[in-house]
Amino acid sequence: MKNVCVIGAGTMGNGIAHVFAQNGYSVSLVDVSQDQLNKAMSTITKNLDRQVSKNAITAQTKESALKNIVTHTSLATAVKSSDLVVEAATENLNLKLDIFRQIDENATANCILASNTSSISITKIASVTSAPERVIGMHFMNPVPVMKLVEIINGYATKKEVTDNIINLSRQLGKIPCVVNDYPGFIANRILMPMINEAIYSLYEGVAGVEEIDTVMKLGMAHPMGPLQLADFIGLDVCLSILNVLHEGFGNPKYAPCPLLVNMVTAKRLGIKTGEGFYDYAQGSKDLIVSEAFKK
Ligand SMILES: NC(=O)c1ccc[n+]([C@@H]2O[C@H](COP(=O)([O-])OP(=O)(O)OC[C@H]3O[C@@H](n4cnc5c(N)ncnc54)[C@H](O)[C@@H]3O)[C@@H](O)[C@H]2O)c1
Repeated sequence: MKNVCVIGAGTMGNGIAHVFAQNGYSVSLVDVSQDQLNKAMSTITKNLDRQVSKNAITAQTKESALKNIVTHTSLATAVKSSDLVVEAATENLNLKLDIFRQIDENATANCILASNTSSISITKIASVTSAPERVIGMHFMNPVPVMKLVEIINGYATKKEVTDNIINLSRQLGKIPCVVNDYPGFIANRILMPMINEAIYSLYEGVAGVEEIDTVMKLGMAHPMGPLQLADFIGLDVCLSILNVLHEGFGNPKYAPCPLLVNMVTAKRLGIKTGEGFYDYAQGSKDLIVSEAFKK
């Protein structure tokens, strides 16, 4: 594999493009928004600069990584010469089905089709393509350049050669792959999201404040971030989409999203990406300042 196409240049897409480019792959980064592509390139440059300043990579690696990335707004053009497509667009079923129909029409027969979805069924995504055996989940964690895990999800029809290929590729990127089967939320989010939802319910019911909830989980459970801070980091819209998939997929009310989460998403308080969630990021994300809405 040499040519990789990454679709979606948001939080995850820019990290995925960064990691492939740093490891010598030619990357075509696609988004519907040119503005988002420009933002992604400046984020990648900033993150590579940070790696250089920490002596994690050389200035030369940074330069060649940046040269390895070409941006596109046309999916059809970008996908054509790719050996692997990693889709990292917005977490929405119909959007992803539409993207996979387009990839299927434009990619070569040997191209592997991967999705970075957090929760949407790989089997369902594969069902709109002409060759479901080449479709797989390649679930990177946020922030991609830092986090070691790649959760690999086998769809119902995924061929063993495809899984083996993605396992080897993940290792080449310096990641640790872990293979799971295709059920709602897979493993990572089936376990993480109910915890985040429970933290939001605890806040909603007045059991404790934002700081107290996060402090209990950080100091008591040795979590590097509290669940509310993590939700802001992931994006509250992404958390809500995943909970809806778990709720519908299992038909179990224990996954129903907390009404406070639904309200915050409706009000566009999505966490770091909109500047406010449980915390206020007007001054950046280094110092944790509880959002005005949750100050006692
Ligand atoms: N945020 C996380 O922590 C996290 C972690 C793991 C996986 N994921 C998954 O990664 C995917 C992307 O999430 P994100 O947080 O980066 O979202 P995001 O909102 O930051 O970015 C999504 C990007 O997709 C683009 N997009 C929308 N429609 C498109 C289309 N038709 N073609 C090309 N680009 C399109 C948008 O313009 C946007 O730039 C989702 O499936 C999400 O579940 C997210």
